[in-house]
Amino acid sequence: MKKLSAHLESFGCQMNAYDTEVIASMLEEEGFRTCNNPRDADVIIVNTCSVRKHAEDRAIGRLHELSRHRDAILVVCGCMAQRMAANLFSLVPTLRIVSGTTSYDGLPDAIRESIKTGKRFCLIEHDSEVTYSLKHVRRHGSPSRYLSVTRGCDNYCSYCIVPYLRGNVRSKDPDSIINEIGEMIESGIKEITLLGQNVMAYRHGTTGFIALLERVLDETAIERIRFLTSHPRDVNPALFRLIAEHERICPHIHLPVQSGSNRILELMRRGYTRERYLEIIHGSRLIRPDLAITTDIIVGFPTESESEFKETLDIVERSSFDSVFTFKYSPREGTAAVEMSDDVPLEKKKERLAVLNGLVGKTRKRILEEQLGSVTEILLDGQVQKGENQFWKGRTPHFRNVLISGDRLDTGDFVRVRLTDIRNYTLIGEEQARR
Ligand code: 5AD
Ligand code: SF4
Repeated sequence: MKKLSAHLESFGCQMNAYDTEVIASMLEEEGFRTCNNPRDADVIIVNTCSVRKHAEDRAIGRLHELSRHRDAILVVCGCMAQRMAANLFSLVPTLRIVSGTTSYDGLPDAIRESIKTGKRFCLIEHDSEVTYSLKHVRRHGSPSRYLSVTRGCDNYCSYCIVPYLRGNVRSKDPDSIINEIGEMIESGIKEITLLGQNVMAYRHGTTGFIALLERVLDETAIERIRFLTSHPRDVNPALFRLIAEHERICPHIHLPVQSGSNRILELMRRGYTRERYLEIIHGSRLIRPDLAITTDIIVGFPTESESEFKETLDIVERSSFDSVFTFKYSPREGTAAVEMSDDVPLEKKKERLAVLNGLVGKTRKRILEEQLGSVTEILLDGQVQKGENQFWKGRTPHFRNVLISGDRLDTGDFVRVRLTDIRNYTLIGEEQARR
Protein backbone atom coordinates (compact mmCIF):
# COMPACT_ATOMS: atom_id res chain seq x y z
CA MET A 1 0.00 0.00 0.00
CA LYS A 2 1.24 3.48 -0.80
CA LYS A 3 2.49 5.36 2.25
CA LEU A 4 0.46 8.39 3.32
CA SER A 5 2.51 11.55 2.98
CA ALA A 6 2.61 14.38 5.50
CA HIS A 7 3.75 17.96 4.99
CA LEU A 8 4.63 19.88 8.16
CA GLU A 9 5.12 23.60 8.73
CA SER A 10 6.26 25.22 11.96
CA PHE A 11 5.57 28.72 13.28
CA GLY A 12 6.84 30.26 16.50
CA CYS A 13 9.72 29.34 18.73
CA GLN A 14 12.43 26.68 18.72
CA MET A 15 10.29 24.56 21.07
CA ASN A 16 7.70 24.39 18.32
CA ALA A 17 10.37 23.48 15.76
CA TYR A 18 11.40 20.59 18.01
CA ASP A 19 7.77 19.50 18.49
CA THR A 20 7.31 19.54 14.72
CA GLU A 21 10.28 17.18 14.43
CA VAL A 22 8.73 14.97 17.12
CA ILE A 23 5.42 14.84 15.26
CA ALA A 24 7.20 14.07 11.98
CA SER A 25 9.17 11.25 13.62
CA MET A 26 5.97 9.93 15.23
CA LEU A 27 4.21 9.85 11.86
CA GLU A 28 7.19 8.17 10.18
CA GLU A 29 7.14 5.46 12.86
CA GLU A 30 3.46 4.98 12.06
CA GLY A 31 4.16 4.37 8.38
CA PHE A 32 3.73 7.88 6.96
CA ARG A 33 6.38 9.58 4.86
CA THR A 34 7.09 13.30 4.97
CA CYS A 35 7.17 15.57 1.94
CA ASN A 36 8.34 19.13 1.34
CA ASN A 37 5.55 20.29 -0.93
CA PRO A 38 1.96 20.62 0.36
CA ARG A 39 0.75 19.70 -3.15
CA ASP A 40 2.07 16.15 -2.68
CA ALA A 41 0.59 15.71 0.80
CA ASP A 42 -2.27 13.56 2.08
CA VAL A 43 -2.09 15.47 5.34
CA ILE A 44 -0.86 19.02 6.03
CA ILE A 45 0.09 19.87 9.60
CA VAL A 46 0.66 23.42 10.79
CA ASN A 47 2.27 23.90 14.20
CA THR A 48 1.25 27.29 15.52
CA CYS A 49 2.20 30.01 18.00
CA SER A 50 0.05 32.31 20.16
CA VAL A 51 2.68 34.49 21.77
CA ARG A 52 1.47 37.60 19.92
CA LYS A 53 -1.69 38.26 17.94
CA HIS A 54 0.43 38.75 14.84
CA ALA A 55 1.73 35.16 15.12
CA GLU A 56 -1.85 33.87 15.19
CA ASP A 57 -2.92 36.08 12.27
CA ARG A 58 -0.07 34.71 10.17
CA ALA A 59 -0.94 31.12 11.03
CA ILE A 60 -4.62 31.66 10.19
CA GLY A 61 -3.58 33.27 6.89
CA ARG A 62 -1.38 30.28 6.10
CA LEU A 63 -4.15 27.83 7.00
CA HIS A 64 -6.46 29.62 4.56
CA GLU A 65 -3.81 29.38 1.85
CA LEU A 66 -3.30 25.70 2.53
CA SER A 67 -7.08 25.12 2.36
CA ARG A 68 -6.63 25.17 -1.42
CA HIS A 69 -5.19 21.67 -1.23
CA ARG A 70 -8.61 20.07 -1.12
CA ASP A 71 -7.32 16.50 -1.27
CA ALA A 72 -5.28 16.84 1.89
CA ILE A 73 -6.45 16.65 5.49
CA LEU A 74 -5.63 19.96 7.19
CA VAL A 75 -4.39 19.73 10.79
CA VAL A 76 -3.51 22.53 13.19
CA CYS A 77 -1.54 21.87 16.34
CA GLY A 78 0.56 23.84 18.84
CA CYS A 79 -0.21 26.82 21.01
CA MET A 80 -2.96 28.41 18.91
CA ALA A 81 -4.70 25.04 18.67
CA GLN A 82 -4.54 24.72 22.44
CA ARG A 83 -5.89 28.26 22.92
CA MET A 84 -8.68 28.35 20.34
CA ALA A 85 -9.60 24.66 20.22
CA ALA A 86 -12.85 23.94 18.35
CA ASN A 87 -13.34 27.66 17.58
CA LEU A 88 -10.76 27.14 14.85
CA PHE A 89 -13.22 25.02 12.88
CA SER A 90 -15.44 28.05 12.28
CA LEU A 91 -12.48 30.30 11.43
CA VAL A 92 -11.01 27.80 8.95
CA PRO A 93 -13.93 25.66 7.69
CA THR A 94 -11.72 23.18 5.82
CA LEU A 95 -9.87 22.25 8.98
CA ARG A 96 -10.18 18.58 9.97
CA ILE A 97 -8.10 18.16 13.11
CA VAL A 98 -7.15 20.46 15.97
CA SER A 99 -4.52 19.09 18.35
CA GLY A 100 -3.33 20.88 21.50
CA THR A 101 0.22 20.97 22.83
CA THR A 102 -0.08 17.77 24.87
CA SER A 103 -2.18 15.64 22.53
CA TYR A 104 0.27 14.68 19.80
CA ASP A 105 0.24 10.97 20.63
CA GLY A 106 -3.33 10.80 19.34
CA LEU A 107 -2.53 12.45 16.00
CA PRO A 108 -1.62 9.45 13.79
CA ASP A 109 -4.86 7.61 14.65
CA ALA A 110 -6.99 10.74 14.30
CA ILE A 111 -5.47 11.42 10.87
CA ARG A 112 -6.08 7.89 9.61
CA GLU A 113 -9.62 7.93 10.99
CA SER A 114 -10.34 11.31 9.46
CA ILE A 115 -9.07 10.15 6.06
CA LYS A 116 -11.33 7.12 6.27
CA THR A 117 -14.50 8.70 7.63
CA GLY A 118 -14.15 12.42 6.94
CA LYS A 119 -14.72 13.06 10.66
CA ARG A 120 -13.35 16.09 12.50
CA PHE A 121 -11.28 15.72 15.65
CA CYS A 122 -10.55 18.21 18.39
CA LEU A 123 -7.81 16.76 20.62
CA ILE A 124 -7.29 19.06 23.58
CA GLU A 125 -6.06 17.95 26.98
CA HIS A 126 -4.59 19.79 29.92
CA ASP A 127 -1.89 17.33 30.71
CA SER A 128 0.88 18.89 32.74
CA GLU A 129 2.95 15.69 32.77
CA VAL A 130 3.61 14.86 29.16
CA THR A 131 7.05 15.39 27.60
CA TYR A 132 8.08 14.30 24.14
CA SER A 133 11.20 12.74 22.67
CA LEU A 134 12.09 12.07 19.06
CA LYS A 135 11.05 8.58 17.97
CA HIS A 136 14.07 8.59 15.70
CA VAL A 137 16.42 11.23 14.32
CA ARG A 138 15.33 12.28 10.84
CA ARG A 139 18.07 12.87 8.30
CA HIS A 140 17.69 16.20 6.56
CA GLY A 141 20.94 17.97 6.03
CA SER A 142 21.54 20.27 8.96
CA PRO A 143 24.24 19.20 11.45
CA SER A 144 22.44 21.15 14.22
CA ARG A 145 19.36 20.04 16.10
CA TYR A 146 17.10 21.22 18.90
CA LEU A 147 16.32 19.08 21.90
CA SER A 148 13.69 20.08 24.47
CA VAL A 149 14.75 19.34 28.03
CA THR A 150 11.72 20.89 29.71
CA ARG A 151 8.17 21.65 28.67
CA GLY A 152 5.96 24.35 30.07
CA CYS A 153 6.72 27.27 32.31
CA ASP A 154 5.98 28.35 35.89
CA ASN A 155 7.10 31.94 35.66
CA TYR A 156 3.82 33.63 34.78
CA CYS A 157 5.37 36.82 33.44
CA SER A 158 2.36 39.08 33.26
CA TYR A 159 2.36 39.48 29.46
CA CYS A 160 2.96 35.85 28.56
CA ILE A 161 0.45 33.24 27.51
CA VAL A 162 2.85 30.30 27.45
CA PRO A 163 2.15 28.80 30.91
CA TYR A 164 -1.56 28.69 30.06
CA LEU A 165 -0.94 26.85 26.80
CA ARG A 166 1.98 24.61 27.64
CA GLY A 167 1.24 23.95 31.29
CA ASN A 168 3.56 23.90 34.26
CA VAL A 169 7.20 23.10 33.88
CA ARG A 170 8.31 19.46 33.81
CA SER A 171 11.72 18.08 32.97
CA LYS A 172 12.77 15.14 30.85
CA ASP A 173 14.70 12.28 32.40
CA PRO A 174 18.44 12.99 31.93
CA ASP A 175 18.99 9.38 30.78
CA SER A 176 16.53 9.87 27.95
CA ILE A 177 18.20 13.18 27.01
CA ILE A 178 21.61 11.47 26.88
CA ASN A 179 20.11 8.70 24.72
CA GLU A 180 18.53 11.20 22.37
CA ILE A 181 21.87 12.98 21.97
CA GLY A 182 23.59 9.64 21.32
CA GLU A 183 21.13 8.91 18.53
CA MET A 184 21.66 12.35 17.07
CA ILE A 185 25.43 11.83 17.03
CA GLU A 186 24.96 8.52 15.23
CA SER A 187 22.99 10.39 12.59
CA GLY A 188 25.87 12.79 12.04
CA ILE A 189 24.65 15.67 14.22
CA LYS A 190 27.47 17.90 15.49
CA GLU A 191 25.64 20.58 17.45
CA ILE A 192 22.64 20.47 19.78
CA THR A 193 20.63 23.23 21.38
CA LEU A 194 18.99 22.22 24.65
CA LEU A 195 15.63 23.96 24.87
CA GLY A 196 13.29 25.12 27.58
CA GLN A 197 11.16 28.21 28.20
CA ASN A 198 13.66 28.65 31.02
CA VAL A 199 16.38 26.00 30.94
CA MET A 200 17.47 27.01 34.43
CA ALA A 201 14.15 25.58 35.68
CA TYR A 202 15.32 22.10 34.61
CA ARG A 203 15.14 19.68 37.53
CA HIS A 204 14.81 15.91 37.45
CA GLY A 205 15.34 14.28 40.86
CA THR A 206 18.60 15.75 42.05
CA THR A 207 19.75 16.80 38.56
CA GLY A 208 19.54 20.51 37.87
CA PHE A 209 20.49 22.20 34.60
CA ILE A 210 24.18 22.56 35.38
CA ALA A 211 24.42 18.89 36.37
CA LEU A 212 22.61 18.03 33.14
CA LEU A 213 25.17 20.00 31.12
CA GLU A 214 27.96 18.19 32.98
CA ARG A 215 26.42 14.83 32.13
CA VAL A 216 26.09 15.80 28.47
CA LEU A 217 29.77 16.82 28.48
CA ASP A 218 30.91 13.63 30.22
CA GLU A 219 28.65 11.06 28.65
CA THR A 220 28.29 12.18 25.05
CA ALA A 221 30.71 13.15 22.30
CA ILE A 222 28.52 15.94 20.92
CA GLU A 223 30.89 18.57 19.59
CA ARG A 224 28.93 21.74 20.30
CA ILE A 225 26.35 22.37 23.01
CA ARG A 226 24.04 25.37 23.08
CA PHE A 227 21.02 26.11 25.25
CA LEU A 228 18.09 28.52 25.40
CA THR A 229 16.34 30.36 27.02
CA SER A 230 17.90 31.43 30.33
CA HIS A 231 15.89 33.55 32.77
CA PRO A 232 18.10 36.31 34.21
CA ARG A 233 16.63 35.67 37.66
CA ASP A 234 17.93 32.10 37.67
CA VAL A 235 21.37 32.22 36.07
CA ASN A 236 24.41 31.97 38.35
CA PRO A 237 28.21 32.13 38.23
CA ALA A 238 28.45 28.32 38.10
CA LEU A 239 26.74 28.41 34.72
CA PHE A 240 29.14 31.01 33.36
CA ARG A 241 32.12 29.13 34.79
CA LEU A 242 30.99 25.99 32.99
CA ILE A 243 30.79 27.95 29.73
CA ALA A 244 34.25 29.39 30.39
CA GLU A 245 35.80 26.01 31.19
CA HIS A 246 34.43 23.89 28.36
CA GLU A 247 35.10 24.61 24.75
CA ARG A 248 32.23 22.35 23.70
CA ILE A 249 29.71 24.66 25.40
CA CYS A 250 29.26 27.59 23.05
CA PRO A 251 29.99 31.03 24.57
CA HIS A 252 26.56 32.45 23.86
CA ILE A 253 23.62 33.04 26.17
CA HIS A 254 20.10 34.20 25.34
CA LEU A 255 19.08 36.27 28.34
CA PRO A 256 15.82 38.16 27.74
CA VAL A 257 15.78 41.51 29.52
CA GLN A 258 12.32 42.58 28.23
CA SER A 259 12.63 46.17 29.53
CA GLY A 260 15.18 48.54 31.02
CA SER A 261 12.73 50.18 33.42
CA ASN A 262 12.36 48.91 36.97
CA ARG A 263 8.72 49.92 37.18
CA ILE A 264 7.89 48.05 33.96
CA LEU A 265 10.00 45.03 34.98
CA GLU A 266 7.99 44.86 38.17
CA LEU A 267 4.69 45.08 36.28
CA MET A 268 5.99 42.32 34.01
CA ARG A 269 6.80 40.24 37.14
CA ARG A 270 10.28 39.50 35.91
CA GLY A 271 11.90 39.17 39.33
CA TYR A 272 14.99 41.36 38.71
CA THR A 273 15.86 45.03 38.38
CA ARG A 274 17.84 46.78 35.65
CA GLU A 275 20.74 47.08 38.10
CA ARG A 276 20.68 43.35 38.79
CA TYR A 277 20.52 42.56 35.08
CA LEU A 278 23.52 44.76 34.36
CA GLU A 279 25.37 43.17 37.28
CA ILE A 280 24.67 39.69 35.88
CA ILE A 281 26.03 40.47 32.43
CA HIS A 282 28.99 42.35 33.84
CA GLY A 283 29.74 39.38 36.14
CA SER A 284 29.32 36.89 33.31
CA ARG A 285 31.85 38.77 31.17
CA LEU A 286 34.33 38.83 34.03
CA ILE A 287 34.16 35.05 33.95
CA ARG A 288 34.05 34.72 30.13
CA PRO A 289 35.05 38.06 28.55
CA ASP A 290 34.01 37.20 25.00
CA LEU A 291 30.57 35.84 25.96
CA ALA A 292 27.98 36.71 23.28
CA ILE A 293 24.69 37.83 24.80
CA THR A 294 21.39 38.08 22.95
CA THR A 295 18.10 39.27 24.37
CA ASP A 296 14.37 39.89 23.85
CA ILE A 297 12.69 43.26 24.41
CA ILE A 298 9.02 44.25 24.44
CA VAL A 299 8.14 47.88 23.70
CA GLY A 300 4.86 49.55 24.58
CA PHE A 301 3.97 47.46 27.61
CA PRO A 302 0.88 49.01 29.32
CA THR A 303 1.72 52.42 30.88
CA GLU A 304 5.29 52.48 29.49
CA SER A 305 6.29 56.16 29.38
CA GLU A 306 8.74 57.83 27.04
CA SER A 307 11.35 58.07 29.78
CA GLU A 308 10.88 54.40 30.70
CA PHE A 309 11.40 53.50 27.05
CA LYS A 310 14.60 55.60 27.15
CA GLU A 311 15.77 53.41 30.04
CA THR A 312 15.37 50.42 27.72
CA LEU A 313 17.53 52.20 25.13
CA ASP A 314 20.02 52.93 27.87
CA ILE A 315 20.29 49.29 28.97
CA VAL A 316 20.82 48.28 25.33
CA GLU A 317 23.62 50.85 25.06
CA ARG A 318 25.30 49.47 28.16
CA SER A 319 24.93 45.78 27.38
CA SER A 320 26.66 45.13 24.02
CA PHE A 321 24.05 42.67 22.84
CA ASP A 322 25.00 40.63 19.80
CA SER A 323 21.39 40.68 18.68
CA VAL A 324 18.06 41.72 20.13
CA PHE A 325 14.66 40.30 19.22
CA THR A 326 12.27 43.20 19.55
CA PHE A 327 8.50 43.03 19.85
CA LYS A 328 5.52 45.35 20.19
CA TYR A 329 3.46 44.43 23.23
CA SER A 330 0.43 42.37 22.24
CA PRO A 331 -2.31 41.80 24.86
CA ARG A 332 -3.09 38.13 25.33
CA GLU A 333 -6.39 37.04 26.80
CA GLY A 334 -6.09 35.34 30.17
CA THR A 335 -2.73 36.86 31.12
CA ALA A 336 -2.37 39.25 34.07
CA ALA A 337 -1.30 42.21 31.93
CA VAL A 338 -4.52 42.13 29.96
CA GLU A 339 -6.20 43.58 33.04
CA MET A 340 -4.19 46.75 32.45
CA SER A 341 -5.27 48.90 29.56
CA ASP A 342 -3.16 48.57 26.43
CA ASP A 343 -2.67 52.34 26.49
CA VAL A 344 0.44 52.87 24.38
CA PRO A 345 -0.97 53.72 20.94
CA LEU A 346 0.07 51.48 18.05
CA GLU A 347 1.84 54.36 16.32
CA LYS A 348 3.89 54.96 19.46
CA LYS A 349 4.79 51.27 19.71
CA LYS A 350 5.91 51.29 16.08
CA GLU A 351 7.98 54.42 16.63
CA ARG A 352 9.66 52.95 19.74
CA LEU A 353 10.34 49.71 17.91
CA ALA A 354 12.01 51.59 15.03
CA VAL A 355 14.18 53.65 17.38
CA LEU A 356 15.18 50.54 19.32
CA ASN A 357 15.94 48.57 16.15
CA GLY A 358 18.14 51.41 14.92
CA LEU A 359 20.21 51.28 18.08
CA VAL A 360 20.35 47.48 18.05
CA GLY A 361 21.65 47.53 14.46
CA LYS A 362 24.43 49.95 15.38
CA THR A 363 25.59 47.83 18.33
CA ARG A 364 25.48 44.70 16.24
CA LYS A 365 27.58 46.27 13.50
CA ARG A 366 30.12 47.47 16.06
CA ILE A 367 30.45 43.99 17.56
CA LEU A 368 30.89 42.41 14.13
CA GLU A 369 33.54 45.00 13.22
CA GLU A 370 35.44 44.10 16.38
CA GLN A 371 35.70 40.52 15.08
CA LEU A 372 37.46 41.45 11.85
CA GLY A 373 40.95 39.97 11.62
CA SER A 374 40.28 37.29 14.23
CA VAL A 375 40.28 33.55 13.61
CA THR A 376 37.40 31.33 14.69
CA GLU A 377 35.74 28.06 13.73
CA ILE A 378 32.45 27.64 11.90
CA LEU A 379 30.20 24.63 11.48
CA LEU A 380 28.91 24.54 7.90
CA ASP A 381 25.16 24.09 7.59
CA GLY A 382 24.56 24.63 3.89
CA GLN A 383 25.18 26.76 0.82
CA VAL A 384 23.65 30.09 -0.23
CA GLN A 385 23.66 31.99 -3.48
CA LYS A 386 24.57 35.70 -3.20
CA GLY A 387 24.39 37.42 -6.57
CA GLU A 388 26.81 35.60 -8.89
CA ASN A 389 28.56 33.73 -6.10
CA GLN A 390 27.85 30.65 -4.11
CA PHE A 391 28.95 30.61 -0.47
CA TRP A 392 29.03 28.11 2.33
CA LYS A 393 27.35 29.38 5.47
CA GLY A 394 28.13 28.47 9.02
CA ARG A 395 28.01 29.74 12.57
CA THR A 396 30.77 30.59 14.97
CA PRO A 397 30.62 29.29 18.56
CA HIS A 398 29.33 32.79 19.42
CA PHE A 399 26.33 32.20 17.14
CA ARG A 400 27.49 34.63 14.48
CA ASN A 401 26.79 33.91 10.82
CA VAL A 402 29.78 33.61 8.50
CA LEU A 403 29.96 33.08 4.74
CA ILE A 404 33.02 31.53 3.06
CA SER A 405 33.86 30.40 -0.45
CA GLY A 406 35.68 27.12 -0.92
CA ASP A 407 35.80 23.80 -2.72
CA ARG A 408 35.43 20.29 -1.49
CA LEU A 409 33.59 21.46 1.61
CA ASP A 410 30.52 19.74 3.00
CA THR A 411 27.65 20.35 5.38
CA GLY A 412 28.76 19.39 8.89
CA ASP A 413 32.41 20.33 8.31
CA PHE A 414 34.19 22.42 10.95
CA VAL A 415 36.34 25.04 9.23
CA ARG A 416 38.79 27.48 10.81
CA VAL A 417 38.28 30.88 9.23
CA ARG A 418 39.80 34.33 9.38
CA LEU A 419 37.08 36.99 9.45
CA THR A 420 37.80 39.53 6.73
CA ASP A 421 34.67 41.54 5.90
CA ILE A 422 31.03 42.26 6.74
CA ARG A 423 28.08 42.24 4.34
CA ASN A 424 24.56 42.96 5.57
CA TYR A 425 25.30 41.98 9.14
CA THR A 426 26.99 38.77 7.99
CA LEU A 427 30.68 38.15 8.45
CA ILE A 428 32.73 37.04 5.48
CA GLY A 429 35.56 34.61 6.22
CA GLU A 430 38.55 33.03 4.54
CA GLU A 431 39.29 29.39 5.10
CA GLN A 432 42.42 28.73 7.18
CA ALA A 433 42.19 25.04 7.95
CA ARG A 434 39.75 22.16 8.27
CA ARG A 435 39.38 19.93 11.25
N1 5AD B 1 3.60 40.71 23.53
C1 5AD B 1 4.79 40.95 22.91
N2 5AD B 1 5.85 40.16 23.04
C2 5AD B 1 5.74 39.07 23.84
N3 5AD B 1 6.62 38.13 24.17
C3 5AD B 1 6.01 37.24 24.99
N4 5AD B 1 4.74 37.61 25.20
C4 5AD B 1 4.54 38.76 24.50
C5 5AD B 1 3.43 39.63 24.32
N5 5AD B 1 2.28 39.41 24.93
C6 5AD B 1 8.02 38.13 23.73
C7 5AD B 1 8.98 38.14 24.88
C8 5AD B 1 9.51 36.73 24.88
C9 5AD B 1 9.49 36.40 23.42
C10 5AD B 1 9.55 34.96 23.10
O1 5AD B 1 8.27 36.95 22.98
O2 5AD B 1 10.01 39.07 24.61
O3 5AD B 1 10.81 36.65 25.44
FE1 SF4 C 1 6.60 28.92 21.44
FE2 SF4 C 1 5.32 30.52 23.12
FE3 SF4 C 1 4.77 30.64 20.54
FE4 SF4 C 1 4.01 28.55 21.99
S1 SF4 C 1 3.31 30.66 22.27
S2 SF4 C 1 5.00 28.49 19.98
S3 SF4 C 1 5.69 28.34 23.43
S4 SF4 C 1 6.70 31.18 21.49
